[in-house]
Amino acid sequence: MTTVTRFGAFLPKDTDGNVAQLHGIGVWRFGDTWYAYGENKVNGNLFQGVACYTTKDFDAWENHGIVLDVQEDGSALGADRIGERPKVLHCPKTGKYVMLIHAETPGYGYAHIGVAVADDPLGPFAFRTTITWRGYLSRDIGVFQDSDGAAYVMSEDRDHGTHIYRLSDDYLTIVEDVACERATDYEYGLESPTIVKKDGLYYWFGSKLTGWSTNDNMFSTATDLHGPWSEWRLFAPAGSQTFDSQVDIVVPLGDDPYDSDEFLFIGDRWMKDDLGDSPIVQLPIVIGDGKASIAWDESYEGSTHR
Ligand code: GAL
Repeated sequence: MTTVTRFGAFLPKDTDGNVAQLHGIGVWRFGDTWYAYGENKVNGNLFQGVACYTTKDFDAWENHGIVLDVQEDGSALGADRIGERPKVLHCPKTGKYVMLIHAETPGYGYAHIGVAVADDPLGPFAFRTTITWRGYLSRDIGVFQDSDGAAYVMSEDRDHGTHIYRLSDDYLTIVEDVACERATDYEYGLESPTIVKKDGLYYWFGSKLTGWSTNDNMFSTATDLHGPWSEWRLFAPAGSQTFDSQVDIVVPLGDDPYDSDEFLFIGDRWMKDDLGDSPIVQLPIVIGDGKASIAWDESYEGSTHR
């Protein structure tokens, strides 16, 4: 069980005092260490590689540098492209670490998933290819690895809704469109998708589509990833715009990720004119019995809004 004591809205710093480039964060425990991957946004929105940090407590971050480099010109992850929401899975079948990342053109028209592979969670990750399912748009992504070793990528597709796609056994491609959901009374599926499982129930979190601005994020539950998925509901006070953040990931802090009593919510509070200095919003999230909620305590750092 990992104990987290730092909550609120703040700039995570590495052990040298620099802002940890953990935008669009993905974080998993491999062995007894938490590995986090983020968008390096020091110089704006174009792709500057994926940064990796490790932590024991979600407070002190050790910087391991860029683990997926900017690719050559003409590549889907070249210097004139965008790479968002890097997520890493450890594949039990191949032993490899597989990174999935939203690969974009500046107009957000490309909408593919980049795939990169490494032997070590600290990289270096070798970029392989990009994938989609049947050419469908794939913007914001998240990943979920189930207790049986199957892995899924959630992917926002403006035309159809947000999908849960099952990955192949080597996690390198998509083999099944497991579910495709629009949020309740909403034209689209939710973006920045993330899923956790507790007591056999899946909890799927996401954000409405408001670009760099925040909104009241929602969640839905199901006993099977195929659905049916419940009505989408709030997990933060209505109108708080999720305490001015966009959910990135919900992290099970218990030793068994599928039987955790404590979870951590991490969201982005994007500063669109200074993306590299966008704070994170880090809060305990209470999950159980089909419910989920975050609250703000006056002892927390920062403020509920920018
Ligand atoms: C948001 C998305 C971010 C980024 C941004 C660009 O909707 O969640 O990851 O793509 O749009 O405007």
